[in-house]
Amino acid sequence: MALAWTGRCPGCGAWNTLVETLRPRAGASGRRSGQGRRGGPRASGAPRPVPLREVEAPAVDRLLTGVGELDRVLGGGLVPGSLVLLGGSPGIGKSTLTGMALGNLCAAGRRVLYVSGEESAAQVRLRAERLGEGALAVPVLAETSVEAVLATLEAERPDACVVDSIQTLYVEGMTGAPGSVGQVRETTGAIMEVAKRLGTAVVLVGHVTKDGTVAGPRALEHLVDCVLMFEGERERSFRILRALKNRFGATSEVGVFEMRSGGLVEVADPSARFVSEASEAPGSCVLCAMEGTRPLLVEVQALVAPTEIVPPRRIATGIDRNRLAMILAVLARHGGPSLASADVFVNVAGGVRVDEPGADLAVALALASAHRGEPLGGEGGKPLACFGEVGLTGELRFVAHPERRVAEALKFGLGPIVAPAAGERIEGLSPQPTLAAALRAAGGRRAARARAAA
Ligand code: TYD
Ligand code: MG
Repeated sequence: MALAWTGRCPGCGAWNTLVETLRPRAGASGRRSGQGRRGGPRASGAPRPVPLREVEAPAVDRLLTGVGELDRVLGGGLVPGSLVLLGGSPGIGKSTLTGMALGNLCAAGRRVLYVSGEESAAQVRLRAERLGEGALAVPVLAETSVEAVLATLEAERPDACVVDSIQTLYVEGMTGAPGSVGQVRETTGAIMEVAKRLGTAVVLVGHVTKDGTVAGPRALEHLVDCVLMFEGERERSFRILRALKNRFGATSEVGVFEMRSGGLVEVADPSARFVSEASEAPGSCVLCAMEGTRPLLVEVQALVAPTEIVPPRRIATGIDRNRLAMILAVLARHGGPSLASADVFVNVAGGVRVDEPGADLAVALALASAHRGEPLGGEGGKPLACFGEVGLTGELRFVAHPERRVAEALKFGLGPIVAPAAGERIEGLSPQPTLAAALRAAGGRRAARARAAA
């Protein structure tokens, strides 16, 4: 067969959709061929399906990385033979986190291996020096050829291995550049095969740009057992580790870290940090958010500035832009200010992202407060707290775990706590049926004073 460059798929006619793959090796019929063994082949040679209760499911001991927040997000540590993809934008701290985890495992007597395709061994050492003795004991292999990495895995048989990053590895015999979809898929497949056979827990580090579109990690999500995302703003010290997919645990858990000079430090009580930083200026509102199963208090800030620009700007950081547009529309229509001739900026302080409808009310209250130029009416010198989804008809809608959110706000003495009505009465909660009612309840100090005087 003659080789030719092809830019267009001869099947569907679309351009630039072809992805290079290796031809399946002769005799390698894939992982699924093992299924028939348990049930025994039939005379016809067709494999026999096995009832689930007869399938052996050996209890495995997980590898604790010793980084508490990471272990929690993983669902109790690394599972031997599993593949974890750790994604995040460059400079967020992926190498630091994996370096710390391997250091701890090594100190606990596990065999580990750190494959660095990105940095030289000397650079990895420099980082490890900041992380301490444990990290310096980790054996490192600076290599980008996947064949060499596989050979080392076979020879060393580590319990845990980090590949930093999957985009730098390449398969010999494939022309695609390292990091291309074909290469990334092929290298991951090859590593997975060896990891499953040797029982090695592998963490693949992958870069994701802000929009998550770059060829690479996203193309791997269905291949790996667990996808973790490391998020945050590089300029800010807070980092949030989230599980997007986890075959061995819940995906709702998050871990909060702070980048310090000696590596990542777990933040056991992030609410305390955010509340102490929250200001009582106009446009600031404390939101009782849920990060997984944990309540988290964060500050939502808004700025409303008159503008001549049409259409005016709507800038959202940490919340969904479409959600902001919806909240602005509901405010204008149902008892709040109309901000049609103002630029609007909304920001969740500390570089946190809140991806839940429960944040709506905080955004609405912060906007109303910014518009009035008056702080929200907290009690006893403490900020007000709120949570709740805003419906299109101006009603406040129930969101999950009201009791946990209220408890967290009470722990820090915040009040009143403005929120939609929960099924049962919750001590400390000031239930409001609509956004308009919530706006009144959260009215500024001036309004509160006027009410008291009346
Ligand atoms: P790094 O783990 O190299 O990020 P990634 O692998 O995701 O690209 O580290 C990111 C940043 O963290 C880097 O700018 C240096 C900083 N850093 C610290 O502040 N303290 C430390 O102890 C370490 C190791 C790094
Ligand atoms: Mg790195």
